[in-house]
Amino acid sequence: MTSNRNRKILLAARPQGMPDERHFKMIEERIPEVKEGEVLIQTLYLSVDPYMRGRMSDAKSYAKPYEVGEPFIGGMVGKVIDSRNARFQVGQYVEGRLEWAEYNKSDGSTIRKLNPEWGPITTALHVLGMPGLTAYFGLIYIGQPKEGETIVISGASGAVGSIVGQIGKLKGCRVVGIAGADEKCAFLTKDLGFDAAINYKTAGNLKNALEEVCPDGVDVYFDNVGGAVSDAVMTKINFQSRIIVCGQISQYNLLTPELGPRVAGQLLKTSSLMKGFIVSDYADHNKEGLEQLSQWVREGKIQYRENIIDGFENTIEAFLGLFRGDNIGKQLVRVTEE
Ligand SMILES: NC(=O)c1ccc[n+]([C@@H]2O[C@H](COP(=O)([O-])OP(=O)(O)OC[C@H]3O[C@@H](n4cnc5c(N)ncnc54)[C@H](OP(=O)(O)O)[C@@H]3O)[C@@H](O)[C@H]2O)c1
Repeated sequence: MTSNRNRKILLAARPQGMPDERHFKMIEERIPEVKEGEVLIQTLYLSVDPYMRGRMSDAKSYAKPYEVGEPFIGGMVGKVIDSRNARFQVGQYVEGRLEWAEYNKSDGSTIRKLNPEWGPITTALHVLGMPGLTAYFGLIYIGQPKEGETIVISGASGAVGSIVGQIGKLKGCRVVGIAGADEKCAFLTKDLGFDAAINYKTAGNLKNALEEVCPDGVDVYFDNVGGAVSDAVMTKINFQSRIIVCGQISQYNLLTPELGPRVAGQLLKTSSLMKGFIVSDYADHNKEGLEQLSQWVREGKIQYRENIIDGFENTIEAFLGLFRGDNIGKQLVRVTEE
């Protein structure tokens, strides 16, 4: 430790619409002292995640709102640098939900030990962590993909979507991704083996574009974005299709709710299932999900990409970038060079 400075990021005000710098505040405190039963963790990587936008609002949702004047809490990977807790030793790597801060103390209840042999420690924040499990549970448990079926994924080049598509390929499906840049589409088809990709920003009529790449219709739709993209996909669903409502990022920053077509008739006519879920619904299956994902990663059957921004002071920009589509793969902040 070179100084006693501990920078933290707090929620300064609740945003209406798209958040900006005014809604965040960076402060400096002293590095906390650990008491009996606690550990001190130096943050190495922070995860910025779209759901955190929901917690900036006080609207009722599955995750508790952040309090104004209190630090953001999010996924992080760090190193234990002091320990008065027998479960954790100095030098161990941990992953958990802690404050957006350079140092955190913890009683150990919201962190888990990482074994660097499982893979690079950053993977605990994506393919071998929350986004990977989200992809796995949503597709396997709700999507129930069968060989030869067509899966369409929106937000396809991000942390969750990029894993969903690769699991779909492992299950023998035709996989089509929708993303917001040609570079993202090339990543999906060339690097990850998707069968086709559509740039929704330049495709023009999305229904026509979908018809071209989904000649047999859509059996599984993994929805990360909602809005107009999903409206188009819903017109192409097949008999007994499964629609997995994982995220609605296109709606998170709207000032007034967007009106769309009524989809109930389409669900009725096709005898389809549309189901929302939260990754924690399947917490009892975390071990199974992580074992399967890590096996696929070890065998080289699942690839991942990280978009890393350096510097704790750039955390806010990294977070806001999610809503501009800056990232390909998982957006991370490297707080400290190891
Ligand atoms: N249900 C759960 O438990 C759970 C868990 C984790 C994540 N999620 C949800 O899953 C989704 C993906 O999360 P992630 O962590 O993998 O994020 P991500 O896809 O890595 O990053 C966000 C991406 O969303 C796209 N996007 C942003 N604004 C958009 C808009 N207005 N319309 C369409 N696309 C937009 C951007 O890509 P483009 O360039 O392609 O637009 C951006 O790169 C989010 O909606 C998130 O809330 C849900």
